Amino acid sequence: MRSVVVTSLGVLTLAGLLAPPAQAAPAPHAPPPKEVKRPVAEGYGGAVATVDLDASKAALTVLRQGGNAMDAAVAGAAALGVTEPYSAGLAGGGFLVYYDARHRKVTTIDGRETAPRAMTSTALEGIPFAEAVSSGLSVGVPGSVAQWDLALRKYGTMSLRQALRPAIEIADRGFVVDQTFYDQTQQNAVRFADFTSTAALYLPGGQPPPVGSTFRNPDLARTYRELGIRGPAWLYGGDLGREIVATVKKPPVRDGATRNVRSGLMEVGDLRAYRALERPPTKVTYKGLDVYGMAPPSSGGSTVGEALNILEALPKIGLHEYLEASRLAFADRNAYVGDPAYTPVPLGDLLSDGFAKERACLIGPRAMPHPAAPGSPDGSYSPCAAPTTPAAPAASAPEEKKEGPETTHLVVTDRWGDVAAYNITIEQTGGSGIVVPGRGILLNNELTDFTFGPAPGDPNLPAPGKRPRSSMAPTIVLKDGSPLLAVGSPGGATIITTVLQILVNRLDFGMSLPDAVAAPRASQRNTAATQAEPAFTQRYGAELTALGHTLTDVPGPPAGEIGAATGLEFLRNGRVQAVAEPARRGGGSALVVATHR
Ligand code: GLY
Repeated sequence: MRSVVVTSLGVLTLAGLLAPPAQAAPAPHAPPPKEVKRPVAEGYGGAVATVDLDASKAALTVLRQGGNAMDAAVAGAAALGVTEPYSAGLAGGGFLVYYDARHRKVTTIDGRETAPRAMTSTALEGIPFAEAVSSGLSVGVPGSVAQWDLALRKYGTMSLRQALRPAIEIADRGFVVDQTFYDQTQQNAVRFADFTSTAALYLPGGQPPPVGSTFRNPDLARTYRELGIRGPAWLYGGDLGREIVATVKKPPVRDGATRNVRSGLMEVGDLRAYRALERPPTKVTYKGLDVYGMAPPSSGGSTVGEALNILEALPKIGLHEYLEASRLAFADRNAYVGDPAYTPVPLGDLLSDGFAKERACLIGPRAMPHPAAPGSPDGSYSPCAAPTTPAAPAASAPEEKKEGPETTHLVVTDRWGDVAAYNITIEQTGGSGIVVPGRGILLNNELTDFTFGPAPGDPNLPAPGKRPRSSMAPTIVLKDGSPLLAVGSPGGATIITTVLQILVNRLDFGMSLPDAVAAPRASQRNTAATQAEPAFTQRYGAELTALGHTLTDVPGPPAGEIGAATGLEFLRNGRVQAVAEPARRGGGSALVVATHR
C-alpha cells in the first residue's frame, strides 16, 4: 500500500543519473509483490501512472472493467482526492489534455476554479500571502466536478456514479499512511489545528496519523456516494454547494486560533454559474513532432511551447540553452498570459516561429542579464542581427510567489489508444486548510494564484468570475498523428520547467522516459538564480556557473525536490511504457493492464 517507499533521492547520485530507476529490495515485512509501488511498467491494453498505488489501481480497475481513458482519468482523480487529499479533490480544479483515438484529435477540458462575482481587482491587494493561504477569501469556485461531468459526457463511457466507485471504496476501507502523507500532514499541522473540522479529520488525537496506520475518510465516501446519486447540480447550486458557501463565509475556526482567518466572497449563485470548458489545445511542432498542451488560463502550453520553439531556433541544445529558453518564455508568460476571457492573450504570436526566432537571438554563450524583458509578440519579427544585442532588462522582475510541491498529475491510456494527461490541484499542499464540516473535503485556495497587486496592467489580477493563471502543463506529443508521449507534473510554476526538461531530456538528450523523469532538475523562471536539485548542482553546477548562471537550492518542504512527474511512452507494436517518479514524493506507481499480449 502507500507505506511502501521505493527509493530515496540517493538514487540520483552521479553514477545513478542515467541508470534505470532503482527497484528497492523488499523489506522483510513488505506486502506481497503485487502490492509494491513500482515507478515503471510496460505492457498492453492500457496503462496508468500516478503518484499513488491506490489511485493507479483505481484507474486500472476501470480500464479492466472496459472503461476508456477518460473514465479511468476521472476515477483516478477521484481516488487521488482520497489518498492525496492535500493535492487533489472535488473542491479543487484541474486541466486535462485528451487524445481521442477514434477521431484522432487532441482536445482539452478546463476545470479551473473561478473567482466569485464579488471579487474585484483589488480584493487581494495588501493582504499578506500567508494570511490569504488559509482563508475563505482564497477559495475559488470548485471546477473538478463540472470537469468530470463534462469529460465523461463528451468522451467517457461511464456515469459519474460508476467512475466514483473505486474512490468510495478506498475512502471507506482506508489506505495505509506513508511517510509523504505523514510529512504533509505534519507540515500543515499548525494551520489544520486552527480549523475544528480539519483537525477532527487529519489530526486525530491532535497528531498526524502515524506512518503505517490506516486512514479512513467515511465523510468523503458519503459525499462521493451522494454526488454520484444526485449529480453535479448537488454542488452547483444544491445543498452541497450551500454547505461549501457557508464554510467559505464562516470558516470553522477554533477558539484561540493562531491566525486571522478572512471570510470568503463566494455565493451559491457563483456555483450555479460555474462551467467547465472544452478548449482547443496549444500546439507547436518540435523536431517533426506535434506537442499539444493546455491553453490559457493555464500558462503551461504557451510557456512550454514557446520555450521549445526557441530551442528549435538555436544551433545547439544543451542545459545552458534549456535554462535561457525557459527564462525568456517565463518573461513572456508573466507579461501576457491570463484568463483569455478577461485579457487578450497573444497566443498565436507567443507560439509562432517568428517570435521564437526573435527571442532566440537573445541567447548567447553566457547567461543573459537578469531579468529578461518580455518580447513583443506583435507579428512583426526581425531576423537576428549579428552580434546579438540583449534586450534592455526590465526595470525590475515581478516578485515570484514561492513555488511549492503542490498539485498532482496522472496519465492513462486505454486499449483503443485514447490518452489522458490530467493535472489536478487544490493549489497549496493542503489547500486553504479548511475542511467542509461533515463532508471530508478540503477547500482549495486557488485564488492565491492571482497576482495580488498593486500591478497595473498585469494580466493576472483578480476580477469577478475570472480564472487565475495556472502553470499546469499536461502535455501530449504525437508523431505522425499517433501518440508518442504524455507527460506532466506537480510543482506550481516549476511544473512548466519540469515538463520542458523531461521533453528535452527525452527528445534532445536521448534519455529513455524513465531516465528523463528520474534525472536531476533545474528550474529557471526569469529569476536571478536558477533553482536546482542537489544532484543537478553537483553534476552541472561548475559548467553552468562558468557560463554566468547562479544555481540555488530548492527550498522545502520537501527540500531539494522539483516536481513529481508521470508519463507514458508509446513503444512499438502497441506496447506502452508507464512511468512515475522513482524517488521524489516517495515515488509513484505505474501499472499496465497486461504485461503480455
Ligand atoms: N495551483 C497550481 C497551478 O495552477 O499552477
